[in-house]
Parts: sequence; C-alpha cells; structure tokens
Amino acid sequence: MVDGYAAAAQYYDLLHTERSAARTQALLAAVGADVRHGILDLGAGTGSVLAALGAQTPDVPIIAVEPSVGMRTALYARLAAAPGLRARTTVLPETAERLALGEFADLAVCLDTSPAFPPPYRPDIWERVRNALVPGGVFLLDEPHLTEPIAQEPREFGRVAVGTHTVVGSVRGESAGQRQWWEYRYTVLDGEGEVVSVEETEFYTWPVMPEELRAELADAGFVVKDDIPYDGGQIIQARR
Ligand SMILES: C[S@@+](CC[C@H](N)C(=O)[O-])C[C@H]1O[C@@H](n2cnc3c(N)ncnc32)[C@H](O)[C@@H]1O
Repeated sequence: MVDGYAAAAQYYDLLHTERSAARTQALLAAVGADVRHGILDLGAGTGSVLAALGAQTPDVPIIAVEPSVGMRTALYARLAAAPGLRARTTVLPETAERLALGEFADLAVCLDTSPAFPPPYRPDIWERVRNALVPGGVFLLDEPHLTEPIAQEPREFGRVAVGTHTVVGSVRGESAGQRQWWEYRYTVLDGEGEVVSVEETEFYTWPVMPEELRAELADAGFVVKDDIPYDGGQIIQARR
C-alpha cells in the first residue's frame, strides 16, 4: 500500500500540535465526562488526540485505527514513552473500511481523516463505527471544510525551530474531477535560511456538503446533535 503520510509523519507533531490541542480540548469539554467504556480513534495519526483524551478520561480501553506505517511509528513512539497509555491502547494497522469491532466504546473520534474516505464507502464506515459504540455512545468528526474541489494557492501552514534548523510546512491544492488533490511540502532551512531538505507528499480527498454527511450519519442509525464549535471549525456530534 502507498503510504501517503510517509513524508508527513516525521514533521506532523511539530507542525500540527496547536490545532490538534484546541479541537481535543473542545470535544473533551463537551463529552469527556460521559466516557466510561472505551474510546475508538479512527485515523489516529501520531496519537496526539488519543493521548490528550486518555489523559482526561477514566482508564478505559482505547483502540487506535491507523493504516500508515509512518504515522504508526510516531504513535508507537508516543506509547513507548507513556506506559499507562500503552497498557490501554490497542493499535489496529488497517483502514476504517476494514473496521470490524463489537460494541466497546462510548466515544469514537475521527479527526482530520473522514475526507479521505471515498463516498461509496462512507455509509458502510459509519455503520461500522455505530457497531463499535454502546447505545448512547457518541461519534465526533469534523464538519467538512471543503464542499467542492477548488484550486488552493500555496500557503504556509506552520513553521517551527528545531535546534538551528527551521521546519516549514506548506500546502497547495487543485480540483481533480470530484476529488481534491493536495500536495504538502516540508522544507527544512538552516540557520542562514538555506534549504537543507525538501519533501513532498500528495493525496486526494473527497469534498462533501455537511448536510450530506449528516444525512449519511442519520441513515446509519445516528441521531445528529448540535455541533461542537472550536477555534477554527465545528465538530459534528452523532449519537448512537
Ligand atoms: C491528517 S491525519 C489526522 C490524524 C489525527 N486524527 C489528528 O487529528 O491529529 C489523517 C490520518 O488518517 C489516516 N487515514 C487515511 N485514510 C484512512 C482510512 N481509510 N482509514 C483510517 N485512517 C485513514 C492517515 O494515515 C492519517 O494518519
């Protein structure tokens, strides 16, 4: 399988931690007190979200679904440094399309990941998530930012110093039929601003209208509740 996140994984926490923390705090404030059984993290990435969830919820099992070996490397490194979290977190090296779990969780999250699900597979994925939730369990996923494919001018999304170097992340996009094409570029600069390395990764996502996503969730047996707002977006809240 092609690992679209191979280049991104090494820089992911450096460049994304701030946004990830804002979303996680918003969703913990909204539903954290309800967690009693288990947590499912679909597209867990480097584990920054699940670590924050794990730190502020009871000692319930966590299942992290993450198909990218690059991202899993960072995730396992995070677990290695946190024995308590390691003891309760099981990592499934597969895609959401292959999820087959019985009822265990009262919180399922899928952050910055659902646009990667091809539309024909989405209804089946929502059903698989519902099957993993106990009655009353909640599923949280981002409200889509992109409702149609569109050209996106290159923009810098993060810049962080690491020793004498600076890591710079930038992104650009193009429409590609019904899909959105993305290119993420990671540039490392030395103290004089000279380029040390440049790595790129590209992948596609599927834009969708938020109402369409909510309708799919309702069709899969969820009751869609009020969104959870955070600084920079909204999180859709669907209860089993
Ligand atoms: C942008 S990252 C988000 C990671 C994490 N949820 C966060 O918010 O920091 C998207 C993640 O989704 C994973 N992913 C992509 N396609 C997936 C699929 N079909 N099923 C499960 N995970 C997938 C990628 O490997 C990547 O780690």
